[in-house]
Amino acid sequence: MYIKPIIIAFVVSISAENAAASGEELLSRGEYILRIGGCVHCHTADGGEQLAGGRPLETPFGTFYTPNITPHDTAGIGAWSESQFRDALHSGVAPDGESYYPAFPYTSYTRIVTEDVRALWAYLKSLPASSQPNREHELPWYLQFRIAAQIWQYLFFTAGEYRERPQQSVSWNRGAYIAEALAHCGECHTPRSIFGATQADLAYAGTAHGPDDEQVPNITPHPKTGIGDWTRDELRQFLEFGELPDGEYAAGAMEPVSEELTRLTAADREALVDYLQALTPVDNAVGGD
Ligand code: HEC
Ligand code: HEC
Repeated sequence: MYIKPIIIAFVVSISAENAAASGEELLSRGEYILRIGGCVHCHTADGGEQLAGGRPLETPFGTFYTPNITPHDTAGIGAWSESQFRDALHSGVAPDGESYYPAFPYTSYTRIVTEDVRALWAYLKSLPASSQPNREHELPWYLQFRIAAQIWQYLFFTAGEYRERPQQSVSWNRGAYIAEALAHCGECHTPRSIFGATQADLAYAGTAHGPDDEQVPNITPHPKTGIGDWTRDELRQFLEFGELPDGEYAAGAMEPVSEELTRLTAADREALVDYLQALTPVDNAVGGD
């Protein structure tokens, strides 16, 4: 007679505990993706509230100001649904159907798998809301209409989640996922055409005109113009501490990236090393190389 309620109470308490545990897991996974994904740096102004936007991004096409992505109902994205958030990352499309400019690297985030988008969304929703208003981008007149972004997407953007390449190892695939989807290394390390599209044949080969017109090195394993002369240990050390083989630290746009990469789990770091060392070496001298 008493057994039944006891069993029910027991089952209910166990499943509630599991739900709490998996909820926590979801949040910590979301935090990891937010960090490795570089969202915090880009969406936080110097000295500003976290993720409240307002950081200026200087590009050859004008100055973009990142928006507020805290869960504030009106100033941020608090009123969005998870699927609207997924559309922003996967398709570069806003809830009102307008297209985003590729200064928002959805060109890489489109590869983030749906479960990770879900974790990211759960974590973002758990953070404090900021009422900081968004600032308009400063763009030439011909880019002010979002139809320009839509045309750009039509010409240069291919949406699609990361797909495992079965001929490669599990670790390589994880490294590829981190580099191509989350940490979007190619957004800076791959040169762009005059239309701002990354050039696939020069993937990771560096450019003299990176973010803020900064020089970005060739990170393919080319022995002369890339990092082919780095040992595995040196590459691992760079990812773990941001320290270059000559004892200097990564500067400029790489500095905030390096800071977040220090959070990589040991397994993810090895995976990224596997992937980087297996890249096709491209002979491309950047600047004075
Ligand atoms: C290189 C800088 C940069 C990084 C890194 C970045 N964003 Fe953004 N993001 C932008 C810019 C710029 C826009 C505005 C694009 C536009 O107006 O077309 C934007 C827009 C957005 C929007 C749309 C907001 C709105 O109000 O419409 C969301 C959501 C978003 N980003 C989420 C993220 C998430 C999540 C990450 C990390 C996975 C991230 N962003 C990383 C630059 C960045
Ligand atoms: C926001 C732009 C940006 C992103 C994203 C980025 N990098 Fe960098 N990276 C740079 C810049 C700029 C430098 C040059 C830093 C300096 O001059 O100290 C650099 C330097 C490096 C170096 C040192 C190479 C050398 O020869 O000195 C390595 C290795 C590297 N990045 C790897 C990566 C990897 C791996 C990723 C992705 C996980 C990545 N970067 C993402 C901009 C970026």
